[in-house]
Amino acid sequence: MSTFQATGTRVGEPTALTAVVWVRLTAAATRKPGTLAELEGACPGVAGRVRVRYGTREDLRGAQATPWVSVTEATDFTHHFELKNLKPGMRYFYASESDGSEVRGAFQTAPREKAPSDFRFCVMTCQGYPDRGHADGHAIYPAMQALQPAFACLTGDLVYYDNDPPRAETAQLARYHWERMFSLPRLLAFNKSVGTYWLKDDHDTLNDDTWPSKSMGSFTFAEGQKIFRQQAPLSNGPSYRTFRWGRDLQIWLTEGRDFRSPNTMPDGLEKTILGKTQKEWLKRTLRESTATWKVLISPTPLVGPDRAKKNDNHSNVGFQHEGDELRAWFKANVPSNFFVICGDRHWQYHSVHPETGLNEFSVGAASDEHAAGTPGEDKRYHKFHRVKGGFLSVTVKGPTILFEHRDIYGTVVYTYQQS
Ligand SMILES: [Fe+2]
Repeated sequence: MSTFQATGTRVGEPTALTAVVWVRLTAAATRKPGTLAELEGACPGVAGRVRVRYGTREDLRGAQATPWVSVTEATDFTHHFELKNLKPGMRYFYASESDGSEVRGAFQTAPREKAPSDFRFCVMTCQGYPDRGHADGHAIYPAMQALQPAFACLTGDLVYYDNDPPRAETAQLARYHWERMFSLPRLLAFNKSVGTYWLKDDHDTLNDDTWPSKSMGSFTFAEGQKIFRQQAPLSNGPSYRTFRWGRDLQIWLTEGRDFRSPNTMPDGLEKTILGKTQKEWLKRTLRESTATWKVLISPTPLVGPDRAKKNDNHSNVGFQHEGDELRAWFKANVPSNFFVICGDRHWQYHSVHPETGLNEFSVGAASDEHAAGTPGEDKRYHKFHRVKGGFLSVTVKGPTILFEHRDIYGTVVYTYQQS
Protein backbone atom coordinates (compact mmCIF):
# COMPACT_ATOMS: atom_id res chain seq x y z
CA MET A 1 0.00 0.00 0.00
CA SER A 2 1.27 3.46 -0.85
CA THR A 3 1.81 5.95 1.95
CA PHE A 4 2.12 9.74 1.64
CA GLN A 5 3.42 12.82 3.48
CA ALA A 6 0.66 15.44 3.23
CA THR A 7 1.91 17.10 6.43
CA GLY A 8 5.36 17.54 4.90
CA THR A 9 8.67 17.42 6.72
CA ARG A 10 10.21 19.70 9.36
CA VAL A 11 13.86 20.16 10.23
CA GLY A 12 14.57 21.22 13.78
CA GLU A 13 17.28 21.94 16.33
CA PRO A 14 20.16 22.43 13.86
CA THR A 15 23.63 22.58 15.46
CA ALA A 16 27.07 22.45 13.85
CA LEU A 17 26.95 18.64 13.86
CA THR A 18 23.31 17.53 14.29
CA ALA A 19 19.73 18.14 13.19
CA VAL A 20 16.33 16.50 13.63
CA VAL A 21 14.25 15.60 10.58
CA TRP A 22 10.55 15.18 11.44
CA VAL A 23 8.42 12.99 9.22
CA ARG A 24 4.79 11.82 9.29
CA LEU A 25 3.01 9.34 7.05
CA THR A 26 -0.49 10.08 5.80
CA ALA A 27 -3.14 8.02 4.04
CA ALA A 28 -3.68 10.60 1.27
CA ALA A 29 -1.25 12.67 -0.78
CA THR A 30 -2.97 15.98 -0.03
CA ARG A 31 -5.01 17.67 2.70
CA LYS A 32 -8.75 17.05 2.83
CA PRO A 33 -10.81 19.63 0.91
CA GLY A 34 -14.23 20.78 2.06
CA THR A 35 -15.78 22.87 4.79
CA LEU A 36 -14.96 23.36 8.46
CA ALA A 37 -17.79 20.96 9.37
CA GLU A 38 -16.09 18.34 7.16
CA LEU A 39 -12.75 19.05 8.91
CA GLU A 40 -11.15 20.74 5.93
CA GLY A 41 -7.35 20.39 6.02
CA ALA A 42 -7.34 17.06 7.88
CA CYS A 43 -4.47 14.73 6.98
CA PRO A 44 -5.21 11.36 8.63
CA GLY A 45 -2.06 9.40 9.44
CA VAL A 46 -1.24 5.89 8.31
CA ALA A 47 1.17 3.19 9.48
CA GLY A 48 4.11 2.43 7.24
CA ARG A 49 7.86 2.70 6.90
CA VAL A 50 10.01 5.73 6.27
CA ARG A 51 13.68 6.69 6.00
CA VAL A 52 15.73 9.78 5.29
CA ARG A 53 18.62 10.12 2.84
CA TYR A 54 20.85 13.15 3.34
CA GLY A 55 24.05 14.70 2.08
CA THR A 56 25.68 17.92 0.92
CA ARG A 57 24.93 17.43 -2.80
CA GLU A 58 21.57 18.57 -4.09
CA ASP A 59 21.24 15.47 -6.29
CA LEU A 60 21.95 13.33 -3.17
CA ARG A 61 24.74 11.41 -4.94
CA GLY A 62 26.75 9.66 -2.25
CA ALA A 63 24.05 10.45 0.32
CA GLN A 64 23.84 8.61 3.61
CA ALA A 65 20.63 6.83 4.54
CA THR A 66 19.01 6.18 7.91
CA PRO A 67 17.56 2.72 8.53
CA TRP A 68 13.91 2.22 7.58
CA VAL A 69 11.68 2.93 10.60
CA SER A 70 8.06 1.88 11.16
CA VAL A 71 5.57 4.50 12.33
CA THR A 72 2.25 3.76 14.02
CA GLU A 73 -0.63 5.48 15.76
CA ALA A 74 1.41 5.44 19.02
CA THR A 75 3.37 8.49 17.78
CA ASP A 76 0.61 9.92 15.56
CA PHE A 77 2.52 8.29 12.66
CA THR A 78 5.50 10.65 13.19
CA HIS A 79 9.19 9.92 13.56
CA HIS A 80 12.02 12.23 14.59
CA PHE A 81 15.25 11.20 12.79
CA GLU A 82 18.28 12.50 14.71
CA LEU A 83 21.03 13.12 12.16
CA LYS A 84 24.54 13.09 13.65
CA ASN A 85 28.13 13.69 12.53
CA LEU A 86 27.15 16.42 10.09
CA LYS A 87 29.64 19.02 8.84
CA PRO A 88 29.49 22.56 10.30
CA GLY A 89 28.42 25.54 8.21
CA MET A 90 27.05 23.46 5.33
CA ARG A 91 23.84 23.35 3.35
CA TYR A 92 22.39 19.85 3.58
CA PHE A 93 19.86 18.27 1.25
CA TYR A 94 17.58 15.40 2.15
CA ALA A 95 14.82 13.15 0.89
CA SER A 96 12.19 11.69 3.21
CA GLU A 97 11.09 8.45 1.58
CA SER A 98 8.10 6.20 2.20
CA ASP A 99 6.60 3.43 0.08
CA GLY A 100 5.05 5.64 -2.55
CA SER A 101 6.20 9.15 -1.65
CA GLU A 102 9.24 11.36 -1.37
CA VAL A 103 9.68 14.87 0.06
CA ARG A 104 12.88 16.74 -0.79
CA GLY A 105 14.18 19.55 1.34
CA ALA A 106 17.24 21.31 2.72
CA PHE A 107 18.65 22.96 5.83
CA GLN A 108 21.81 24.61 7.10
CA THR A 109 24.11 23.51 9.91
CA ALA A 110 25.59 26.09 12.29
CA PRO A 111 29.14 27.30 11.69
CA ARG A 112 31.80 26.03 14.09
CA GLU A 113 32.23 28.08 17.28
CA LYS A 114 35.39 29.89 16.15
CA ALA A 115 34.14 30.85 12.66
CA PRO A 116 32.92 34.46 12.21
CA SER A 117 29.12 34.60 12.04
CA ASP A 118 27.69 35.88 8.74
CA PHE A 119 24.02 35.02 8.17
CA ARG A 120 20.43 36.09 8.79
CA PHE A 121 17.69 34.44 10.82
CA CYS A 122 13.94 35.09 11.17
CA VAL A 123 11.55 34.98 14.12
CA MET A 124 7.73 34.70 13.94
CA THR A 125 4.84 34.03 16.34
CA CYS A 126 1.03 33.89 16.74
CA GLN A 127 -0.55 32.43 13.62
CA GLY A 128 -4.32 32.11 13.51
CA TYR A 129 -5.99 29.84 10.97
CA PRO A 130 -9.18 31.67 9.87
CA ASP A 131 -7.34 35.03 9.90
CA ARG A 132 -4.24 33.83 8.01
CA GLY A 133 -4.90 36.36 5.22
CA HIS A 134 -4.36 33.97 2.27
CA ALA A 135 -5.88 30.56 1.46
CA ASP A 136 -2.43 28.97 1.00
CA GLY A 137 -1.05 30.28 4.29
CA HIS A 138 0.36 33.42 5.90
CA ALA A 139 2.25 35.84 3.61
CA ILE A 140 5.16 35.89 6.07
CA TYR A 141 6.23 32.39 4.95
CA PRO A 142 7.22 33.19 1.34
CA ALA A 143 8.54 36.55 2.65
CA MET A 144 10.83 34.83 5.18
CA GLN A 145 11.91 32.20 2.66
CA ALA A 146 12.89 34.89 0.16
CA LEU A 147 15.41 36.20 2.71
CA GLN A 148 17.18 32.79 2.72
CA PRO A 149 17.53 32.65 6.50
CA ALA A 150 20.10 30.26 8.00
CA PHE A 151 17.32 29.26 10.43
CA ALA A 152 14.03 30.53 11.82
CA CYS A 153 12.36 30.45 15.20
CA LEU A 154 8.65 29.69 15.48
CA THR A 155 7.96 31.34 18.81
CA GLY A 156 4.69 29.88 20.08
CA ASP A 157 0.93 30.14 19.44
CA LEU A 158 1.46 28.16 16.25
CA VAL A 159 -2.13 26.89 16.47
CA TYR A 160 -5.02 28.24 18.57
CA TYR A 161 -6.73 25.23 20.19
CA ASP A 162 -9.22 27.42 22.07
CA ASN A 163 -9.91 30.39 19.77
CA ASP A 164 -9.94 28.86 16.27
CA PRO A 165 -12.91 26.54 15.59
CA PRO A 166 -13.28 23.68 16.19
CA ARG A 167 -12.34 24.15 19.86
CA ALA A 168 -9.92 21.31 20.69
CA GLU A 169 -11.72 19.63 23.57
CA THR A 170 -10.18 16.26 22.70
CA ALA A 171 -6.61 15.21 21.88
CA GLN A 172 -7.87 14.07 18.47
CA LEU A 173 -9.18 17.56 17.61
CA ALA A 174 -5.91 19.04 18.88
CA ARG A 175 -4.00 16.90 16.36
CA TYR A 176 -6.36 18.10 13.64
CA HIS A 177 -5.28 21.72 14.38
CA TRP A 178 -1.66 20.77 13.55
CA GLU A 179 -2.62 18.83 10.41
CA ARG A 180 -4.71 21.70 9.09
CA MET A 181 -2.19 24.47 9.77
CA PHE A 182 1.03 22.78 8.71
CA SER A 183 -0.33 21.20 5.51
CA LEU A 184 -0.97 24.67 4.04
CA PRO A 185 1.15 24.93 0.84
CA ARG A 186 3.19 27.94 2.01
CA LEU A 187 3.97 26.32 5.37
CA LEU A 188 4.93 23.04 3.67
CA ALA A 189 7.31 24.86 1.34
CA PHE A 190 8.94 26.79 4.19
CA ASN A 191 9.29 24.03 6.74
CA LYS A 192 10.88 21.53 4.38
CA SER A 193 13.63 23.94 3.39
CA VAL A 194 14.51 26.05 6.46
CA GLY A 195 15.82 24.66 9.75
CA THR A 196 13.65 25.80 12.66
CA TYR A 197 13.50 26.01 16.45
CA TRP A 198 10.00 25.62 17.88
CA LEU A 199 8.71 27.09 21.13
CA LYS A 200 5.26 26.59 22.55
CA ASP A 201 3.07 29.10 24.34
CA ASP A 202 -0.44 28.97 25.81
CA HIS A 203 -2.73 28.42 22.80
CA ASP A 204 -0.63 25.60 21.32
CA THR A 205 -0.27 23.87 24.69
CA LEU A 206 -3.90 24.07 25.83
CA ASN A 207 -5.68 27.44 26.11
CA ASP A 208 -5.36 31.15 26.89
CA ASP A 209 -2.78 31.98 29.62
CA THR A 210 -2.67 28.33 30.68
CA TRP A 211 -0.56 26.52 33.32
CA PRO A 212 0.03 22.88 34.39
CA SER A 213 -2.99 20.94 35.71
CA LYS A 214 -5.47 22.83 33.52
CA SER A 215 -7.79 21.12 31.04
CA MET A 216 -10.25 22.05 28.29
CA GLY A 217 -13.08 19.52 27.91
CA SER A 218 -11.37 16.12 28.04
CA PHE A 219 -8.10 17.55 26.65
CA THR A 220 -5.46 17.98 29.36
CA PHE A 221 -2.36 20.14 29.77
CA ALA A 222 -0.23 16.95 29.90
CA GLU A 223 -1.70 15.77 26.58
CA GLY A 224 -0.97 19.20 25.12
CA GLN A 225 2.69 18.91 26.18
CA LYS A 226 2.92 15.44 24.59
CA ILE A 227 1.28 16.52 21.32
CA PHE A 228 3.62 19.51 20.97
CA ARG A 229 6.62 17.16 21.31
CA GLN A 230 5.11 14.92 18.61
CA GLN A 231 4.42 17.76 16.20
CA ALA A 232 7.52 19.92 16.67
CA PRO A 233 10.91 18.80 15.29
CA LEU A 234 12.48 18.56 18.75
CA SER A 235 15.09 16.26 20.23
CA ASN A 236 14.57 14.44 23.52
CA GLY A 237 16.27 16.95 25.85
CA PRO A 238 14.78 19.72 28.03
CA SER A 239 12.28 22.13 26.49
CA TYR A 240 14.67 25.03 27.23
CA ARG A 241 17.92 25.04 25.25
CA THR A 242 20.74 27.17 23.79
CA PHE A 243 22.50 27.08 20.41
CA ARG A 244 25.80 28.57 19.29
CA TRP A 245 25.93 29.91 15.71
CA GLY A 246 29.60 30.71 15.14
CA ARG A 247 31.88 33.13 16.97
CA ASP A 248 29.39 35.97 17.19
CA LEU A 249 25.97 34.56 18.04
CA GLN A 250 24.40 32.40 20.73
CA ILE A 251 20.63 32.08 21.13
CA TRP A 252 18.63 30.94 24.15
CA LEU A 253 15.14 29.47 23.81
CA THR A 254 13.09 29.45 26.99
CA GLU A 255 10.08 27.40 28.11
CA GLY A 256 7.24 29.46 29.57
CA ARG A 257 4.45 27.00 30.35
CA ASP A 258 5.80 23.72 31.75
CA PHE A 259 7.29 25.10 34.99
CA ARG A 260 5.10 28.08 35.81
CA SER A 261 3.17 28.83 39.00
CA PRO A 262 -0.58 29.34 38.65
CA ASN A 263 -1.21 32.83 37.27
CA THR A 264 -3.73 33.26 40.13
CA MET A 265 -1.06 32.85 42.85
CA PRO A 266 -0.19 36.11 44.68
CA ASP A 267 3.13 37.55 43.43
CA GLY A 268 6.24 37.01 45.60
CA LEU A 269 9.55 35.18 45.96
CA GLU A 270 8.15 31.75 45.09
CA LYS A 271 6.07 32.75 42.06
CA THR A 272 7.77 31.80 38.80
CA ILE A 273 7.39 31.39 35.05
CA LEU A 274 10.76 29.75 34.34
CA GLY A 275 11.08 27.52 37.42
CA LYS A 276 14.24 27.19 39.53
CA THR A 277 16.18 24.73 37.34
CA GLN A 278 15.61 26.61 34.09
CA LYS A 279 16.47 29.95 35.70
CA GLU A 280 19.77 28.59 37.06
CA TRP A 281 20.57 27.12 33.63
CA LEU A 282 19.81 30.42 31.91
CA LYS A 283 22.07 32.45 34.22
CA ARG A 284 24.90 29.91 34.17
CA THR A 285 24.96 29.52 30.38
CA LEU A 286 24.67 33.28 29.78
CA ARG A 287 27.63 33.86 32.12
CA GLU A 288 29.69 31.14 30.40
CA SER A 289 29.00 32.31 26.85
CA THR A 290 31.85 33.85 24.86
CA ALA A 291 29.64 34.88 21.91
CA THR A 292 29.77 38.51 20.71
CA TRP A 293 25.94 38.71 20.78
CA LYS A 294 23.57 36.92 23.14
CA VAL A 295 19.92 36.73 22.12
CA LEU A 296 17.13 35.33 24.29
CA ILE A 297 14.07 34.23 22.29
CA SER A 298 11.19 34.07 24.77
CA PRO A 299 7.60 32.94 24.13
CA THR A 300 6.35 35.86 26.29
CA PRO A 301 7.68 39.40 26.98
CA LEU A 302 10.10 40.51 29.70
CA VAL A 303 9.84 44.25 29.05
CA GLY A 304 6.46 45.00 27.47
CA PRO A 305 4.63 47.21 28.30
CA ASP A 306 1.47 45.12 28.21
CA ARG A 307 -2.20 45.67 29.00
CA ALA A 308 -2.80 46.49 32.68
CA LYS A 309 -5.35 43.70 33.13
CA LYS A 310 -3.03 40.94 31.82
CA ASN A 311 -1.49 38.56 34.36
CA ASP A 312 0.61 36.07 32.40
CA ASN A 313 4.14 37.36 31.73
CA HIS A 314 7.16 39.13 33.23
CA SER A 315 5.95 42.56 32.12
CA ASN A 316 2.69 42.11 34.11
CA VAL A 317 2.37 43.00 37.83
CA GLY A 318 1.32 39.40 38.55
CA PHE A 319 4.92 38.25 37.84
CA GLN A 320 6.73 41.45 38.77
CA HIS A 321 8.95 39.83 41.40
CA GLU A 322 10.62 37.40 38.97
CA GLY A 323 10.52 40.02 36.20
CA ASP A 324 12.45 42.50 38.35
CA GLU A 325 14.91 39.79 39.42
CA LEU A 326 15.67 38.80 35.82
CA ARG A 327 15.91 42.35 34.43
CA ALA A 328 18.28 43.36 37.26
CA TRP A 329 20.38 40.23 36.71
CA PHE A 330 20.66 40.91 32.95
CA LYS A 331 21.73 44.50 33.65
CA ALA A 332 24.42 43.36 36.11
CA ASN A 333 25.73 40.39 34.11
CA VAL A 334 25.09 40.97 30.38
CA PRO A 335 24.77 44.77 30.21
CA SER A 336 25.68 45.58 26.61
CA ASN A 337 25.49 42.63 24.22
CA PHE A 338 22.22 40.98 25.26
CA PHE A 339 18.78 41.28 23.60
CA VAL A 340 15.34 39.76 24.08
CA ILE A 341 13.08 38.78 21.18
CA CYS A 342 9.56 37.85 22.26
CA GLY A 343 6.48 36.21 20.80
CA ASP A 344 2.95 36.23 22.17
CA ARG A 345 2.05 39.92 21.75
CA HIS A 346 0.08 40.71 18.60
CA TRP A 347 1.80 44.00 17.82
CA GLN A 348 5.38 44.86 16.85
CA TYR A 349 7.66 46.93 19.04
CA HIS A 350 11.20 47.73 20.12
CA SER A 351 11.13 48.61 23.80
CA VAL A 352 13.91 49.67 26.15
CA HIS A 353 13.17 49.07 29.81
CA PRO A 354 13.36 52.50 31.53
CA GLU A 355 15.16 51.30 34.70
CA THR A 356 17.46 48.55 33.38
CA GLY A 357 17.99 49.45 29.70
CA LEU A 358 16.97 45.93 28.58
CA ASN A 359 16.15 45.84 24.84
CA GLU A 360 13.14 43.80 23.69
CA PHE A 361 11.85 43.20 20.16
CA SER A 362 8.26 41.91 19.81
CA VAL A 363 7.95 40.21 16.41
CA GLY A 364 4.17 40.73 16.11
CA ALA A 365 1.33 38.56 14.80
CA ALA A 366 1.77 36.40 11.68
CA SER A 367 -0.95 38.26 9.72
CA ASP A 368 -2.42 41.77 9.72
CA GLU A 369 -5.85 40.29 10.52
CA HIS A 370 -4.41 38.82 13.75
CA ALA A 371 -2.82 42.08 14.97
CA ALA A 372 -4.41 43.98 17.91
CA GLY A 373 -4.36 44.26 21.69
CA THR A 374 -1.76 46.91 22.44
CA PRO A 375 -2.32 49.27 25.37
CA GLY A 376 -0.96 51.98 23.00
CA GLU A 377 2.38 53.58 22.28
CA ASP A 378 4.34 54.56 25.40
CA LYS A 379 7.28 56.87 24.74
CA ARG A 380 8.92 55.90 28.06
CA TYR A 381 9.48 52.43 26.53
CA HIS A 382 8.94 52.42 22.80
CA LYS A 383 11.52 53.23 20.16
CA PHE A 384 9.10 51.62 17.69
CA HIS A 385 5.46 50.53 17.94
CA ARG A 386 3.22 49.21 15.14
CA VAL A 387 -0.13 47.36 15.33
CA LYS A 388 0.25 45.19 12.22
CA GLY A 389 1.41 41.68 11.42
CA GLY A 390 4.87 40.72 10.23
CA PHE A 391 8.07 39.15 11.51
CA LEU A 392 11.59 40.02 12.63
CA SER A 393 14.81 39.31 10.79
CA VAL A 394 18.21 39.51 12.47
CA THR A 395 21.46 39.77 10.51
CA VAL A 396 24.70 38.92 12.28
CA LYS A 397 27.87 39.90 10.47
CA GLY A 398 30.82 39.51 12.83
CA PRO A 399 30.80 42.40 15.30
CA THR A 400 27.57 43.92 13.90
CA ILE A 401 24.01 42.85 14.69
CA LEU A 402 21.03 44.27 12.79
CA PHE A 403 17.40 43.84 13.87
CA GLU A 404 14.78 44.50 11.19
CA HIS A 405 11.04 44.50 11.84
CA ARG A 406 9.27 43.60 8.61
CA ASP A 407 5.67 43.72 7.44
CA ILE A 408 3.91 40.54 6.29
CA TYR A 409 5.45 40.86 2.80
CA GLY A 410 8.98 41.32 4.11
CA THR A 411 9.33 45.09 3.64
CA VAL A 412 11.49 46.61 6.38
CA VAL A 413 9.49 48.94 8.68
CA TYR A 414 12.09 49.51 11.45
CA THR A 415 15.81 48.87 11.93
CA TYR A 416 18.11 48.85 14.94
CA GLN A 417 21.83 48.14 14.63
CA GLN A 418 24.60 47.71 17.17
CA SER A 419 28.35 47.21 16.66
FE1 LIG B 1 -0.93 34.78 20.33
